[in-house]
Amino acid sequence: MAPTRTVVLVALVLSLPGSADSFQPLFSFKGNSSTHRDITQRAVLRETAEACKAIAAAEGRDFTLKINNSLSVGQVVSACSSTGTSDSVLSTVMFHTSIANMYFSNAMVDVVFALSQERHFDDETFQGGRDVIIAGVSAVKASVKLESFVSGRWSLGRVCHTLQDFYSHSNWVELGSRTPYSALIRPDQPLENLAGPSTPTCRNCTRGNCTNNLLPEVLQQGLLTSGYFDVLSSAKPAGKCSHGGTFDRTSRQDPVGGINKDDTAASHGSLHHTAADLAINATVELLEDIRLAVGDKNFLRLMGLSQSSVLCFVIDTTGSMSDDIAEAKRVSFSIIDSKRGTQQEPSAYILVPFNDPGFGPLIMTTNADVFKDSINKLSASGGGDLPELCLSGLQLALTAAPPSSEIFVFTDAAAKDAHLKSTITALIESTKSVVTFMLTDTLSSRRRRGLQSATPRSLSQSDAQLYRDLAQASGGQAIEVSKTDLSLATSVIEDSSAGAVVTVFQAVRNPGTPDNFTFTVDGSLRNLTAYITGASSLTFNLTSSTGASQSSSQSSGPLGSFTTVGNLRRFSLNTDNQTGSWEISVNSNDPYTLKVTGQSSVNFIYNLVEAYEGAHGDYSLKEGRPLTGGNTSLLVSVTGSDTVKVSEVTLVEGSGGSREVNGSLQSVGSGNFLVTFRDVPAGDFVVRLKGEDSTTSRSATTSSSFQRQASTQIKTSSISVTAQANSTTIEPGSTISVPFTVSMTTNGVVNDTASGTFTVRANNDRSYTSSSPATVSIAAGSGGKANGTVTLTVPASAASGTDVTLTIEAENAAATDINYAVLRLSVVAEVTDFTSPVCQVVSISATCPSSSSLCSSSQWEFSANLTDGINGTGIESLTVRQGNGTLNTSTAVGAGGENVTVATYSASCCSQNVELVAVDAAGNVGTCAGQVKATTTTSAAPVTTTAVNPTSTGGHTLTISQSLWISVVVALLWK
Ligand SMILES: *[C@@H]1O[C@H](CO)[C@@H](O)[C@H](O)[C@H]1NC(C)=O
Ligand SMILES: *[C@@H]1O[C@H](CO)[C@@H](O)[C@H](O)[C@H]1NC(C)=O
Ligand SMILES: *[C@@H]1O[C@H](CO)[C@@H](O)[C@H](O)[C@H]1NC(C)=O
Repeated sequence: MAPTRTVVLVALVLSLPGSADSFQPLFSFKGNSSTHRDITQRAVLRETAEACKAIAAAEGRDFTLKINNSLSVGQVVSACSSTGTSDSVLSTVMFHTSIANMYFSNAMVDVVFALSQERHFDDETFQGGRDVIIAGVSAVKASVKLESFVSGRWSLGRVCHTLQDFYSHSNWVELGSRTPYSALIRPDQPLENLAGPSTPTCRNCTRGNCTNNLLPEVLQQGLLTSGYFDVLSSAKPAGKCSHGGTFDRTSRQDPVGGINKDDTAASHGSLHHTAADLAINATVELLEDIRLAVGDKNFLRLMGLSQSSVLCFVIDTTGSMSDDIAEAKRVSFSIIDSKRGTQQEPSAYILVPFNDPGFGPLIMTTNADVFKDSINKLSASGGGDLPELCLSGLQLALTAAPPSSEIFVFTDAAAKDAHLKSTITALIESTKSVVTFMLTDTLSSRRRRGLQSATPRSLSQSDAQLYRDLAQASGGQAIEVSKTDLSLATSVIEDSSAGAVVTVFQAVRNPGTPDNFTFTVDGSLRNLTAYITGASSLTFNLTSSTGASQSSSQSSGPLGSFTTVGNLRRFSLNTDNQTGSWEISVNSNDPYTLKVTGQSSVNFIYNLVEAYEGAHGDYSLKEGRPLTGGNTSLLVSVTGSDTVKVSEVTLVEGSGGSREVNGSLQSVGSGNFLVTFRDVPAGDFVVRLKGEDSTTSRSATTSSSFQRQASTQIKTSSISVTAQANSTTIEPGSTISVPFTVSMTTNGVVNDTASGTFTVRANNDRSYTSSSPATVSIAAGSGGKANGTVTLTVPASAASGTDVTLTIEAENAAATDINYAVLRLSVVAEVTDFTSPVCQVVSISATCPSSSSLCSSSQWEFSANLTDGINGTGIESLTVRQGNGTLNTSTAVGAGGENVTVATYSASCCSQNVELVAVDAAGNVGTCAGQVKATTTTSAAPVTTTAVNPTSTGGHTLTISQSLWISVVVALLWK
């Protein structure tokens, strides 16, 4: 379908109220129907818990959590936490954020691919739907291999949508199946018993009752079908079932009615819960396949189950930076060495060097020693008196780091690439990462070590302002300090690497003006720290809830102690028994920032969401800035407590004034709220949440008020930029076209009489070749919209699994307003290997005593040949999934010339089962299992071969030859 037509149709679909062609994506306000969000979250929690259980078993730890559909995020995080949970502060923010990432990308399928039959298994597109799933699962596995977990989550969310829709849109449930249709995730299994293109499948519903509209012969023969769906045309093949519902025009034509189970009020709504439960189980099965392919640890990283953030440095390596590099090294080594093996050990390390003319490469590793080695190799050289490519380096870090990371930039020079400012700001907004700058010797001459002629240079105020603006947009700080004092300022890096750091309060006054600020300290907060950046003339006075007070003239006093280094004051607060409202009065006419942080489990995450136009329908993730004067909605999730009551969510003006916009709250279950703000004015805002938590109080009987604030500023814009690629994946060596539309809005609505010219910038984080018009113009009388197209070309050498973030910005002619669209694409090479490694058991030798008390003195052995066949991509890993014996492997060449991995496993007779997992280079998984029976005889074992995950009901039988191409379980049945 031509992109323009897609856009038109999508707009049409979106303008139809409640035209949900799937499980409801995010919210179910009526009834207790399950949404794609619920289904995805439940499956993720279950499979994450399974992975933790397996790791615990392997490490000999107890895992007592009962795994079922009612798990909460908090329960899974605490069960997965390997150290005792009672005294450490656990944060669920990262896991919550990752899950949200997956359900938002899942829900987006209804917007981006609203009319794709395959994406929803409509119109009997079983082969097409499975192709979507298989390609998507390959993309996820490829991303994990490259440690691109964020893009892996985007792909995974999309795949889950299609998989889940199968259970609502097909008659699988009506056929009596109560297990997932495994062939949908196994390309080497045939799709069988599909109703032929001319086979009638439905009859008319009677008086709106569709309970028995599937033809009896379809049910008797176990024929698989799905409903036809169209919002424009009522045409469908004769006798075929429809999806059903108000917006499906095909359902008004014979046979009338439909078969979908999207919610409890749908045509087959009485089967909604069965379909939703099966969709959960199918999603678990898909996650299990990915988990087997990538291993438990990587699976948990894909799920985002992490207590710790990444340690991310962007470092200027020009000649004058050797002291700074030495300090970055010292502080990172100190963090690594003090946290190794603890829950606060950084989940990954990112290093991006930059200078002039180069930047990068980005080094991202989970291995602390690799990071140490990389930072050891940094040396300050070259550069000279030119500004450096700071923002290019920062851009790399922002796109590689997980969302909400804190990034530290070390430099002493102006950015040569200041033109990237708006792109960087857009990235900060969309990733919610915090950027803190360590600016050294900005006010004195820049020293030029190793250079003959030291060019006196300092960062001008306007150069420094660029860094301050970016820090401010992200909720970070621009710390200006002398090189000799840098080591005193890097304590902020150590602070941020503590676990479960939350922002209690943050404010900026730029231009500076004296002001009083209040914030609430709750009983769950530990290690409360206040940071104040500003001129040396700044003075302040802090008053606690009990009236104790301390001024900036006392570096140590009743409320704690503070140090001053450069423009930063770091105040360690003593909050014992002083919960409640605190006040800080700041006296300064120069710009300043205030930030109060602490450690606590209680926090929140939020995402901008957008209602489908004109609908009582649903919402989807909104990227880009909200529209000035319009309504803005957030999906807010409170983390770390099941007992929190949220009393208010407010947009608080960021830098200039103290305007506040209160949101109206609607609970959508389990600590999640849909918050709507009316008529948000022009400006920048941060989200503040206030509430009561009865569990965080030190005295069990009273509840405690708390507040948390988000770091990232939300800016409004009157420009609307929308863009849509017709695919979210690109093959290496190919070019994708992305049509986009720019319009002007008034009070959140497109102004169709507007005209004007806009500067367009398209940036991608991989430096791939792209082209875009330099400007687009809205001509008078054109309906207020201007269209353009960005093309992006992926080099043939790009690795499968690489993610690309494309940002398309439009700026008005006066350069006073800007908005942008963000597209996340994955590079995915065409998959040709769909077959899983196969296993042939060669022998099992055993003399295991029947008495368990004697088992430790005997050994048994298992050997098997595994191959990916002559045309496969080859076995890449072979691991023991079950059993605690020793695995040895060697390679051989089989009779047909194929590579064979010869596995020899030996174990104590106390461990009588083994399951091996073989994964090929394309991520296909094969398993191989054996069991020894406790007996004193050593006769040869009768061997039977059965398929793992045998396909379930519905008449889908497997032939022996097919089952050999499937992962094989060898069960030794002794009688
Ligand atoms: C889903 O799986 C669970 C656990 O394996 C099982 O108890 C439940 O019955 C399954 N649900 C359906 C609808 O088959
Ligand atoms: C801050 O509070 C002090 C003491 O309550 C008051 O004198 C002062 O006017 C306030 N300043 C501002 C800017 O509101
Ligand atoms: C944080 O607080 C805990 C006690 O709640 C204390 O043991 C720890 O040393 C503190 N950490 C820092 C960095 O102050």
